[in-house]
Amino acid sequence: MSKKIFSGVQPSGNLHLGNYLGAIKNFVELQNGKNTDCIYCIVDLHAITVKQDPKELKKSIRETLAAFIASGLDSKKSIIFNQSAVSAHSEGAWILSCIARMGWLNRMTQFKEKAGKDKEKASIGLYAYPVLMAADILLYDTTHVPVGDDQKQHLELCRDIAQRFNNDFGISNFLKVPEPLIQKNFSRIMSLKDGTKKMSKSDPSDFSRINLMDNKDKIINKIKKAKTDTLPMPNENEDLKNRTEVLNLLVIFSSLSNQSIEKSINEFSGKNFSIFKEKLANLLIEKIEPISKEINKLLNDQKHLDGILHEGSEKANEFASKKIKEMKKIMGF
Ligand code: AMP
Ligand code: TRP
Repeated sequence: MSKKIFSGVQPSGNLHLGNYLGAIKNFVELQNGKNTDCIYCIVDLHAITVKQDPKELKKSIRETLAAFIASGLDSKKSIIFNQSAVSAHSEGAWILSCIARMGWLNRMTQFKEKAGKDKEKASIGLYAYPVLMAADILLYDTTHVPVGDDQKQHLELCRDIAQRFNNDFGISNFLKVPEPLIQKNFSRIMSLKDGTKKMSKSDPSDFSRINLMDNKDKIINKIKKAKTDTLPMPNENEDLKNRTEVLNLLVIFSSLSNQSIEKSINEFSGKNFSIFKEKLANLLIEKIEPISKEINKLLNDQKHLDGILHEGSEKANEFASKKIKEMKKIMGF
């Protein structure tokens, strides 16, 4: 059976190595796999659940698309589009918000984290965010959703909403109940300065992350300064206990070279830390610099980028508008 893959990424400028290894690289592998139809959506409607500067938002959408394409996503193989261009997403979100229960949404931990102490001031959109995500997924009869660990709960909610809709209207399997695809290895890339924190664009220190648009010198410098410890390179997995920073660097190395951690440990066991760091920096340059150059090239041709989104939106709309029509018919509209 063929797989229908859907995933969404919020538009953001300055994508980093965590986004690449945790999401985009996996998208490319799925796209190039057998029997898969992939849809990748830049979720600009999700972005506005917190305040956005319109000019910045437009720029971020293009930058995210450029990073997708530069990393190997191909608009001829996958459908790549931005959410706001396909109105069925908003319409579906409203309909599904009448299916989802307050009690279900009240359990969402991401809302609690993002809303912080002053929940009264959070937008209704931030609260309803997972319902829009459910619409994204369900409009395309998605079978599999590659997401990070943090989105597992939202996907559970999406499954509940689909089942409830099917039950309420007595029409089994109309909304397909999707499965999560959680990357098992290397799913979380940590900060270069603190191995207990996720690598993130919101970290005030630029030295905590490798950005996809960093040049060679920056990469070398950041890896040189990356936190390690005074112990020698590990000889086995056991030696990595409580050494989160060293583990993280080995995870980055292994993920970029598509090999197991064990293999990387063997490769550097008994060697000097500086040798490992040099190899890591070289590998990063080999993999990231071409992406960085391509992103910059693509950003110089906005018409081309906008054309890709336009074409993707038309393809997505063809599918989503049909599904929403059927949904409305079922509901008596
Ligand atoms: P965000 O910009 O946090 O919305 O993330 C966009 C995508 O990149 C999501 O699929 C995240 O799971 C993934 N991602 C972001 N930061 C990291 C990280 N440090 N390690 C692994 N994946 C990440
Ligand atoms: N909420 C997801 C995130 O923050 C992004 C997202 C929106 C998404 N719609 C989606 C992911 C649909 C997978 C499927 O990472």
